[in-house]
Amino acid sequence: SRRNALVAGATATAGALALSACAEGSSGGGGGGNGAAGPESPTDIAAASEVPVGKAAKLTKGGVTVIVSQPENGVFKAFSSTCTHQGCQLNVQNNSQIVCPCHGSQFALADGSVKGGPAESPLKSYKAEVKDGRIIVGG
Ligand code: FES
Repeated sequence: SRRNALVAGATATAGALALSACAEGSSGGGGGGNGAAGPESPTDIAAASEVPVGKAAKLTKGGVTVIVSQPENGVFKAFSSTCTHQGCQLNVQNNSQIVCPCHGSQFALADGSVKGGPAESPLKSYKAEVKDGRIIVGG
């Protein structure tokens, strides 16, 4: 009976593996929902010169959209462009204000924190670094 238990265990494990492999294989088209996916792996999004010191820009490349800012010289930040209130796409006005067109929430370009409601949660942030003059986000 001990042997049977082992076999049963092995079968269950194999089943779980098959299931998770299947789930991974089918996860491709998911995510986003509103068409603005964040970077799941390091993505060269733009030239660093497109985001001057103290400014922010909404950048899109290859299906990835992020808001990138440079709050201090040489310090780059990347945030999700999806509002944390109800998921509208944020705009960057005057290269410095991150605002939501739906209900007017505002977010700080330095850290994605809420500057004005109704949103209550800060923007999701991503890794951002500059390599050879290019901004690499995510990963
Ligand atoms: Fe952005 Fe409501 S969805 S403020």
